[in-house]
Amino acid sequence: MSSPMSSPLRALLDPVPPLMADMTLTAVTDRFQSGGFERMLSLAIVDEDQRPIGLMSRHALMELLLNKYSRDLYGKRPIHLFMNPMPIVVSLAESTTKVISTVTSQIRTPIIEDFVFVEADGRYAGLGYVADVLKLVEQRLGQRNHALAQANLEIKSSQAHLVQSEKMAALGQMVAGVAHEINTPLGYVGNNVQMAEEMLSQIHTLVAAYDGLFEGLLSEASDPADIEQRIQTISEIRQDFDAVSDLADLNELFSDARFGLKQISDIVLSLKNFSRVDRSATDEVDLVENIETALTVGHHHLKNKVTIEKRFEPIPRVPCSPSQINQVLLNIMTNAAQAIEHDQGKLLLRTYTRGEFVCISIEDNGSGISDEHVARIFEPFYTTKKVGEGTGLGLSISYRIIKDHGGDIRLATKAGVGTRFEISLPMQSPGTSLDTPSARMPLTPEALVTDEPVMARSA
Ligand SMILES: Nc1ncnc2c1ncn2[C@@H]1O[C@H](COP(=O)(O)OP(=O)(O)OP(=O)(O)O)[C@@H](O)[C@H]1O
Ligand SMILES: [Mg+2]
Repeated sequence: MSSPMSSPLRALLDPVPPLMADMTLTAVTDRFQSGGFERMLSLAIVDEDQRPIGLMSRHALMELLLNKYSRDLYGKRPIHLFMNPMPIVVSLAESTTKVISTVTSQIRTPIIEDFVFVEADGRYAGLGYVADVLKLVEQRLGQRNHALAQANLEIKSSQAHLVQSEKMAALGQMVAGVAHEINTPLGYVGNNVQMAEEMLSQIHTLVAAYDGLFEGLLSEASDPADIEQRIQTISEIRQDFDAVSDLADLNELFSDARFGLKQISDIVLSLKNFSRVDRSATDEVDLVENIETALTVGHHHLKNKVTIEKRFEPIPRVPCSPSQINQVLLNIMTNAAQAIEHDQGKLLLRTYTRGEFVCISIEDNGSGISDEHVARIFEPFYTTKKVGEGTGLGLSISYRIIKDHGGDIRLATKAGVGTRFEISLPMQSPGTSLDTPSARMPLTPEALVTDEPVMARSA
């Protein structure tokens, strides 16, 4: 038996001596009237084995004695004749919870009796008071309430935490996307500035050489051999620097850089209008212009690597956000350039219509994509490039943009041969942009491989 002394029930137990079954009514009345019993509503009656057989309550006794002859009539009779033979009896061996439930389920109102505690073996142990049990119930309810309130608080805080981390994750994705989009124009703006710097330093050298010659010519003490030398220097410099055409290049570098800066400021602007970022500035757009724009922007990626072939069939203008379509084209062209590791790189660009859609096809003769990768390339952060080289966001962003426009991206690819991406955009605006089902599609689509063959590398 687990140590009963430590049971919290013991705190409820009042070990009042019981009455014997054969005690007379008068003796019991005297017992009630003697000191020390004020607290009890009743006294237990036990048999000779100390087992409780009933309970005599003060209330029942008083009812009996209201009749002024009853003391004479019944005074000598044994108490067991008048007792309640079915009192509430609970064992000290029970759990507190069980005792509470037994007592509370059997209480009769008004409360005129206490209840009886017995030891594990069934012998009388003492009385228990209903009021104490009710207090205990109240206490326990209080504790449970407190625990519930605590749990409620914890749930609320973990819920808040979840919402917060979800928000952070979404924000993180967005920020990574924005960083990716800013990074590309930033890359070529940086490149262009560096090239311009190199040219400027050449121009500087040339101007300094001209200055030298000029001074030599003006000087009275000039030596013809010295003049000869200065002219020689200038013509050497001019051999690897053709001022006229290189200055034209410089102009182009600056205009590309300005374009890149415009692209960056567009992105920043779209960030500011974040809630409207998806379809800000929708226009009727000539996609061929967009292709040219993307080629300009991606020029330095492409120029030393690939020859570009354009086969543009006439296409109508389509409603779209031109800066977003530029991003898509640039992402796909950049991927194509990155996939070409030989020196016969080709990029075939086509436009055509199919049904209600305008299509742009971008085809490279690069590495192709193996089957195991093809299903995953639209997943955010999926990249086969080295750390620092690719974030794996280009295609996932592109896919989302095209889906938000009600269009589609499909691809055909063959490892070692090349890859063809086809972007299709609806000629008619898809209406409420973000509520179209396609906009809610997951970002990781099945890669849909067209059955048209990709361009062969040797072709
Ligand atoms: N034209 C292509 N040829 C071969 N593989 C490609 C081509 N386009 C995409 N891929 C593959 O798809 C992957 C995902 O492309 P995505 O543009 O999403 O990310 P990334 O180019 O790796 O990185 P990021 O665009 O963020 O710099 C690439 O890592 C590459 O393996
Ligand atoms: Mg990419």
